[in-house]
Amino acid sequence: MKRTILLTGASGVVGAALLPRLARHRVICLVHRNKPEAAEIVLGDLTIPGLGLDSCTYRNLAREVDVVVHCAATTDFSAGADPTRELNVTGTARLLEFAADAGATLHYVSSAFVARSEASRADIGDGTADPRDYLASKRAAEQLVRDSGIPGTILRPSVVIGDSATGAIAKFQALYLLAAAIVRKTLPLLPLRPDDRVDLVPQDVLADAVAAVVKHDVRGAEHWITAGEAALTAGRVVELIVAAGDRAGLDVRAPRLVDPEMVDRLVRPAFLEHLPPVTRRRFEDMLAMTALVAGATAFPATLAEIPGCRPIETPVLACAFDRSIGHLIGAMGWGRSGESAA
Ligand SMILES: NC(=O)c1ccc[n+]([C@@H]2O[C@H](COP(=O)([O-])OP(=O)(O)OC[C@H]3O[C@@H](n4cnc5c(N)ncnc54)[C@H](OP(=O)(O)O)[C@@H]3O)[C@@H](O)[C@H]2O)c1
Repeated sequence: MKRTILLTGASGVVGAALLPRLARHRVICLVHRNKPEAAEIVLGDLTIPGLGLDSCTYRNLAREVDVVVHCAATTDFSAGADPTRELNVTGTARLLEFAADAGATLHYVSSAFVARSEASRADIGDGTADPRDYLASKRAAEQLVRDSGIPGTILRPSVVIGDSATGAIAKFQALYLLAAAIVRKTLPLLPLRPDDRVDLVPQDVLADAVAAVVKHDVRGAEHWITAGEAALTAGRVVELIVAAGDRAGLDVRAPRLVDPEMVDRLVRPAFLEHLPPVTRRRFEDMLAMTALVAGATAFPATLAEIPGCRPIETPVLACAFDRSIGHLIGAMGWGRSGESAA
């Protein structure tokens, strides 16, 4: 059935992958700064009451919209507690209020990392990245969605990587910075255990899942859009980055994988204070990121429970990640004549 959808975050990594998959519906994008191409838009801001819309636009929208897909969020771990809360929690509350006014369903894109509270570092040293603010905001927003009684779903992706076939992605995110540092040989060690799971989900798999919950009008469900037991290990992720770099003629050497506890106990106190402030900050930010993305246990995975979706398989995921790294190398112009994929 053709629906009228209000999509937030259409210019972001998830929204940009999702938008073409909603083509059979009428989609109105609530646009903040960056406009997606070829879509109906309203300019708004979730940090402003009434979604930053004038009352006439708000009322007209509430009359027309029957599904809200909420992808807008601060995903920057360095954004600070207040701005993160303002957009991710208060912004979600405003959108829930809109969904109630519109009598619409709401699908909220959360994060699988809400399950990893123990992974956040209490001491971030000179770092600026503090995933605790982001995770607290995603948990609080989930609770608002549950308490609202608005029909719909909570969808929890893990780390989003590029398109399975092309590796393309709207924006290179934190994991790509790590991959870039490995490819550029600026990372001699990585605080990861080789067997830790690094759960990745290609953007097309996530976008197909969100489009499927809209299509099948799924209600009252919370889904983990993750690889789960099929997730790659940290050792395999590094191997794939090195292989993609080598294929592009970059002679990449794998960084040493070092137990994070040893980094905290030995490397940090002995070497960190001798580094320049900017290197110290980058190192601390990397520790915060690796502590979050790699875990000893797998996430739950419920893709197979969404109509029309299939679970992620490890070899397919390895191939998709290889393409993502190939795309990064090509986009940066680092490889032999713009190598872009396997
Ligand atoms: N990417 C991942 O790896 C990942 C993993 C797990 C969960 N998630 C979740 O997936 C969702 C989408 O993430 P993403 O990676 O696509 O984020 P993103 O690339 O950082 O995009 C964020 C989006 O939010 C919009 N936005 C920012 N401030 C806004 C405001 N004040 N009002 C309205 N819109 C605003 C941005 O629009 P402008 O550009 O115009 O400001 C942009 O479209 C988020 O809820 C995130 O927590 C993402």
